[in-house]
Amino acid sequence: MSEELKQDPGFGSSLALLDALGIGPVWVRRELAVEEVQAAHAQVPAQDSVAAVPAAAVEAPQVIAPEPVVAEAKLPVAAPVAQPTIPAARPAPAAPARTRAPSEEEGGPPSWLDEMDFGTALEPMLIPDGDDEEDAPAVDPLIARIKTMDWPQLKQQVSECRRCGLCEGRKNTVFGVGDEKAKWLFIGEGPGRNEDQQGEPFVGPAGKLLDNMLLSMGVKRGENAYIANIVKCRPTDDNGRDRPPSPQEVASCLPYLQRQIELIQPTVLVALGKTAAISLLGMDPATPVSRLRGTVHRYQDLPLVVTYHPAYLLRTLTDKSKAWADLCLAMSTYASQAR
Ligand code: URA
Repeated sequence: MSEELKQDPGFGSSLALLDALGIGPVWVRRELAVEEVQAAHAQVPAQDSVAAVPAAAVEAPQVIAPEPVVAEAKLPVAAPVAQPTIPAARPAPAAPARTRAPSEEEGGPPSWLDEMDFGTALEPMLIPDGDDEEDAPAVDPLIARIKTMDWPQLKQQVSECRRCGLCEGRKNTVFGVGDEKAKWLFIGEGPGRNEDQQGEPFVGPAGKLLDNMLLSMGVKRGENAYIANIVKCRPTDDNGRDRPPSPQEVASCLPYLQRQIELIQPTVLVALGKTAAISLLGMDPATPVSRLRGTVHRYQDLPLVVTYHPAYLLRTLTDKSKAWADLCLAMSTYASQAR
């Protein structure tokens, strides 16, 4: 095992955490350290090493195939893991009346249990791209400027952002972290308490699981991977508890992520949870993650794979093997893009 990895307290503690949860063997095969995974990649003459990692290179004793997706007119066609296909982008659905997710107290799901079917519609979160005449009425000049920003300008803009009420309660904006030329882009929902305090995404328990999910794919935080969120500031309810971002908050913040994606030009996007998936795909918010996964979607011209949010997986251990199947789909998609 790599000395660097062994000495990384985060790595050790995340293993301990996974062991405590009884899910360590699913995400990390002890004997197969990062170096070995990378060596396995190097043996394959692919341009992008991770692309070539066969699922078998990372032992996953509880792997199951993705559930077959029930074909539905509005959804892209399901792609098998071995030969992913990328369906054409869906046209944006007409926006229904603005609603917000029910809060926990109103009978809605607790924060980040966003894989659940809320039963009530959130608004599809497509925002005007400014290129279409029909979008014309409300092109915010800032959105037009964001589209031309470079990394320093974008970071500065986000750090000063007051486009929605989330700025009032934040300690830090959480811009995103990682390799700015990464081929892998992982997108979560929004910062929680730990992330708000540290200004970095996925640094709490869910982040430790995410790091292990990445590791199981032969990817390490910061190396060929970028991690970002749909919103850059922590959404909280009146009691200071985490909550999913509202459609308005998502719409205000999404231009920043869209610009990050343009700058990164990743090969594959992985949407972690429902908020990320429906925000990027403009899907019907009532669609559960179980229906979005198992298919290679498209965000603009980029393949996007949906899996469960790590926080959900920490609470729902029975779905972790499905998440592994999703990561296998992401890896095979990545491999097919590199050819
Ligand atoms: N959950 C998210 O969706 N993002 C984070 O950064 C942390 C937790």
